[in-house]
Formats: sequence, C-alpha cells, structure tokens
Amino acid sequence: MGQTLQLVGLQWGDEGKGKVIDALAGRFDVVIRFQGGANAGHTVQIGEQEFVLHLAPTGILRPQALSILGNGMVIDPAGLIREIEGLREQGVKVAENLVISDRAHVVLPHHKLLDRLRESARAGGRIGTTGSGIGPCYADKATRDGIRFCDLMDPAVFRERLEALMAMHNPIIERVHGAEPIDCDAVCKEYCAYAEVLRPHVRDTVPIIRQALDDGRNILLEGAQGSLLDVDFGTYPFVTSSPVLTGAHTGSGIPASRIDHVLGLAKAYCSRVGAGPFPTEQDNEVGETIRRTIGRLGGREFGATTGRQRRCGWLDGVALRYTARLGAVDSLAVSVLDVLGAFETIKVCTAYRLNGQTLTEFPSSAQTLARVEPVYEELEGWRCDISEARSWGELPPQARAYLEFMEELAGAPVEFVSVGPKRTQVIERRVHG
Ligand code: GDP
Ligand code: IMO
Ligand code: MG
Repeated sequence: MGQTLQLVGLQWGDEGKGKVIDALAGRFDVVIRFQGGANAGHTVQIGEQEFVLHLAPTGILRPQALSILGNGMVIDPAGLIREIEGLREQGVKVAENLVISDRAHVVLPHHKLLDRLRESARAGGRIGTTGSGIGPCYADKATRDGIRFCDLMDPAVFRERLEALMAMHNPIIERVHGAEPIDCDAVCKEYCAYAEVLRPHVRDTVPIIRQALDDGRNILLEGAQGSLLDVDFGTYPFVTSSPVLTGAHTGSGIPASRIDHVLGLAKAYCSRVGAGPFPTEQDNEVGETIRRTIGRLGGREFGATTGRQRRCGWLDGVALRYTARLGAVDSLAVSVLDVLGAFETIKVCTAYRLNGQTLTEFPSSAQTLARVEPVYEELEGWRCDISEARSWGELPPQARAYLEFMEELAGAPVEFVSVGPKRTQVIERRVHG
C-alpha cells in the first residue's frame, strides 16, 4: 500500500516548505500542488545550486517523481513557461514528468492588473499581495466566469470565454479605475501561443491520480502558503484567496479519506510578509538578529517572490496550537532551528492578553488579533552552531527541550528538523512504529 502524505505550513508561509518537500520527495512517486499560484516562492539548495520554484511542484527536482499542478491552482502560463525554461537551464528534467490539470484556472492579464488596481484602491488597508493576480483569478473561479486549461486548449472556446469575461471586467477597469482596457485580440494571440507550448503537459488528472492510488503509489500533497493565510481560517482579510489548510482534497482530487498522514511544518520562530496582525513581531534588534543570522547560515528572510523584507518575531504558540489542531497534523517538521542559536534566551508566546483577560484561542477577528499582547515563556538558548547535527542526540539539550515545547503546543511529535537550507541539513526522528 502506498502512502499519501500532505505537507502543510502552519504559519504565514515561508516555513521552508521547498526545503522540506525536496528532502522528502525522493521517497514519493507523485507530488501534487493543490492550491495557490505564482504567489508562492519555494527555495531549495542542492549543493551549490539554488532553485526558486513558484508554480512547479518542488517534486520537479526529483526526476523519478510525477509532478502535478493540481486543479485547485491558478496558473500564469507565461510565468510557468519561464519557470520551465529556467529549470531546464539549471539542468532539471522537465518533460512528461510535469503534468498540468486541465481543470486548473488560467491567470490572465486582467487578474494581475486588477490585483494592483484593487490594492491601490484599498486606501489605508492594503493586504500587500504579491501582485500575481491570485485574488482576482479565484474570484472569477467563484463567480463561474473563470477560464480553465481545458478552455485554453481550444482557441475558439478560449476566445468566446475571454470576450464574455472582458465584457464584464473592461468597463470596471476603464470607468472605475481609469485604466486601459484589456485588448482581447492581443490576449488571444499571446495565450494561444502559450497553449501550444504547454499542451503536451495539460491532462485530465482525475484518471492519473486514480491510477496512482490503485497502483499503491506514494503521493505527496504539497501545500503552498501557510495556514494563517488560509482564506477561511487565516487572519482574514490579510490572507491569500485559497484554502491552504483544507484544500488538499478539493485541489487535487485525492479523496480526503485517502490522506494517510499530515505533516505540519513550522519555523522555530515566525515570519510574515505583507500586511496584517502579527502579535509576536519583533520590529527591533531581535528581528534584525534573525534576518542577519539566517543570512549568515545560508537562508533568507526576504521574499522569494517579491524580494520584500520579511517581518520576523518569536514563535506564536497560540497560533501553532490553533493551526496544528485544525489541520489535524499527525507529526511536526520544524525548520530554521539553527537560527535560534544566536540567542541567549528564546521567547515563546503561550497565550494572549486582551482587556485584562487571558486568551488561549486564536481570535477570528484581525482587529482583535491586532490588539492582543503576547504572554511569553522564556526558554534557555543553546548558543552554538547546530547546522552540522544530523541526529536528535547530536542536538544540545536546550534545543531538544525547545522542540519538546513545540510538540506540547502543537499536540504532535516532531518527526523532522531542518538545521540549514541545504538538502542534507536534516534530522529525522522515527515517531511512528
Ligand atoms: P517556503 O516558501 O516555505 O518554501 O520557504 P522560502 O523558501 O520562501 O523561505 C525559507 C528560507 O529559509 C529560504 O531562504 C530557505 O533557503 C531557508 N531555509 C529553509 N530551511 C532552513 C533551515 O533549516 N535553516 C536555514 N538557515 N535556512 C533555511
Ligand atoms: P509561500 O508558498 C508568504 C501573502 C502576501 C500577502 C497575502 C496575499 O512561499 O509560503 P496574494 O498574492 O496571495 O494575494 O497575497 O499573502 N503570501 C505569502 N506570504 N509566503 C507565501 O507563499 C505567500 N503567498 C502569499 O504577502 O500578504
Ligand atoms: Mg516562500
């Protein structure tokens, strides 16, 4: 029997999913991305080479795996073609091992335009989106006006649907936003050329996935973004537009009952890029130390997609408890533990205070979350370099105590620890069987 494992980021994204998925993907036959689009930026370091993936599943770096862009994704064809070309230039095989679901939605020029225009129109309340057209594309999907890859594959259908779509959007682009309308002829020409480049990869993924399940293949469901950016359970409205925590089934076609194991990934601290409440944020020397230290240890706290500086802070245990329970995680992966070696003592938020009361539940309202004061516990640091550790026993006792504290908060055992950005910098711990 094959195993289906889902990896989910438990914070605000950039938990090191690329790194962890790459380390795991060697054991999987099929890797499926099930939500989001080019807003994701997953960094993988293999030897001296660095890869940054936005749309292709990280599994693409493992040539034995079939990498699927699932039906729950929103895909910018031009961005994907650029990414495929870049990967090939770096020596990565991209051929029949890359499959695009014909039910995935196409990101179109007006999505990116509206993403920018709506952000500027949100006076004072910007979300700080990545500008990749994600929100407007999912909006078109929800109103049933979107264009899918199966439509893109048929030029006549594509033109018909595009003209109907732009008849709706162009008056708003022109009259509300005062911007240039989209020229349907130009888009048709451009996108029909992309369609021909991508055609060999576009397939109905339902029978492919059914066959993989029937054949007992090992399947990895690759989440992008993080649970606190989930459109339902995140810090709404400062979220992305897809279901991060609950989308693995709907965005891939793998029945929920066939997902055997959920691996929740958390950083040993927190980071966030874009606007929105972040109770444990350290906009001070602590945040600077985190950014400086990760830079020294070979990683980055600058957006892999937009280059923006990430906001950094202590681990938020209230949020971790919330997302790990909601995601029903079976075990935990913890990344960038090496960075905390820079601190004498390490703070972890275990509750919030608001109006003289203690909160242990993560609030629904972003306004409430913005007003809470974190209650911290202080743990002893280890003050040394752990980037060469390859087993649980090689970790200093303070680092193990820190991980055990995270286990208690999440209610799940730590199975995987990342101590550096490279593929080999991992510690695995057998926690089941
Ligand atoms: P993702 O979006 O979840 O895949 O994460 P990103 O790639 O956007 O950001 C994670 C950053 O941390 C990247 O620069 C990685 O190379 C780096 N990184 C990942 N895991 C580790 C780790 O354990 N230690 C260090 N020092 N860096 C890491
Ligand atoms: P990975 O997969 C971190 C954030 C944006 C913004 C909000 C909405 O690399 O973890 P969007 O463009 O999705 O409409 O932006 O979500 N965001 C991310 N932050 N990592 C990501 O992806 C993100 N994808 C979106 O910064 O605050
Ligand atoms: Mg990222």
